[in-house]
Amino acid sequence: MRKPFIAGNWKMNTSHQAAKSLASGLVDQIGNVTTVDMAVCPPFVYLQLVAKALGSSNIAFGAQDVYFERNGAFTGEISAEMLKDICCTYVIVGHSERRHVIGETDELINKKLSAAINGGLLPILCVGELHEEREAGKTDEVVVNQLKKGLAGICKERVQAVTIAYEPVWAIGTGKTATSDQAQEVHAMIRKLLAEMYDESIAQELRIQYGGSAKPSNTAELMACPDVDGLLVGGASLKVEDFSAMIKTVE
Ligand code: PGA
Repeated sequence: MRKPFIAGNWKMNTSHQAAKSLASGLVDQIGNVTTVDMAVCPPFVYLQLVAKALGSSNIAFGAQDVYFERNGAFTGEISAEMLKDICCTYVIVGHSERRHVIGETDELINKKLSAAINGGLLPILCVGELHEEREAGKTDEVVVNQLKKGLAGICKERVQAVTIAYEPVWAIGTGKTATSDQAQEVHAMIRKLLAEMYDESIAQELRIQYGGSAKPSNTAELMACPDVDGLLVGGASLKVEDFSAMIKTVE
């Protein structure tokens, strides 16, 4: 059985104070939950204060990005080793905003994913189609391509560290959630692909999150899909009540 995994992606939001109260608020509400894996991904600069606020609760923390080199002259970048050094557990790789706003390629994402695994982090690899790609009937093609390129060279033993997040770009931050049928269809396709790329037991074991306007009101429906194993939550993860409500629904 795959344990549900709900992660909050805070993106470029919060402040020192807001990050601290959000983390402490979550600890109060859901810090003891054991039946759901939980994580929050604050901006780099707030990672350590959030870690402190999370304390020994069951909520883990992750970063929103990582660079693929270990150290050296890479101004502005953060390595997997640095993240591990501050006891970070997860890292988001290939988020659609990094692909489409910052311009990251599948090749760069693959290097980051590989470096994250090598550095002992658990990466969340995001994939998903644009609105026009869905309209053109290219959803599967786009997602397959992102997965094949993103996971290139990652062997069976290493891929077990990975969570996949299917995030249709048209649903991110738009309030337009994919229907549970749309989500299930793509998740099932991804699991089939994982069985082809690796084997059936890896495909059954890897968790596939859905992301894109996930909120308390649609959590139960999305999580009822057999191949939806969790959620990557943006906007709703910035409110203690909303994120806690989602965790409690899944619990
Ligand atoms: P959203 O973002 O929940 O605000 O749509 C999801 C994400 O980008 O991971």
